[in-house]
Amino acid sequence: MIVTEILMQEHKIILETISQLEPHLKEQQPDSFTRLSEFITFVREFVDKFHHAKEEELYFVWMKKYNPGLEQGPLSCMLGEHDQGRSLISNADQAVQAQDFESARKSILEFNRLLDEHINKENNVLYHMAEQIDSVQNCGDKEMLEAFGEVTAKLPEIADRYGITVGAVPEIL
Ligand SMILES: [Fe+2]
Ligand SMILES: [Fe+2]
Repeated sequence: MIVTEILMQEHKIILETISQLEPHLKEQQPDSFTRLSEFITFVREFVDKFHHAKEEELYFVWMKKYNPGLEQGPLSCMLGEHDQGRSLISNADQAVQAQDFESARKSILEFNRLLDEHINKENNVLYHMAEQIDSVQNCGDKEMLEAFGEVTAKLPEIADRYGITVGAVPEIL
């Protein structure tokens, strides 16, 4: 499905941003807090409002519609991990505001590890389940693609910053 490709393209942007931050988590530098704040903003804007919004409000809902049995197992596990990530980022934000580098660093490292594993599970297990549903129902893009575009269109600045065109099929795949 094109919608799966879009989510996987967003995963690439998330993993790239995480790996760009890693060298700055080793020890405190004069610009550490600025970089950490920028990362927290990236997570809240891109990861949450842009990517998790598509998963939680559209993709997972669509999966549940055609396979209600997934709700208790894999889907609730993914939603739980999104929430865990939100609380780690809010801890990191509080630590940044208190100028506590060590504590901010710990929360962000934990967040990065969580996201890395989470994305692996989605890419290698959950999205395959969705593709299996679509191989029978053949309606995923028809039912979700337009709404995906609407999420992107609602946040044009974020889309612009990461070179994402509304309604476009990802080019880097
Ligand atoms: Fe997710
Ligand atoms: Fe995801």
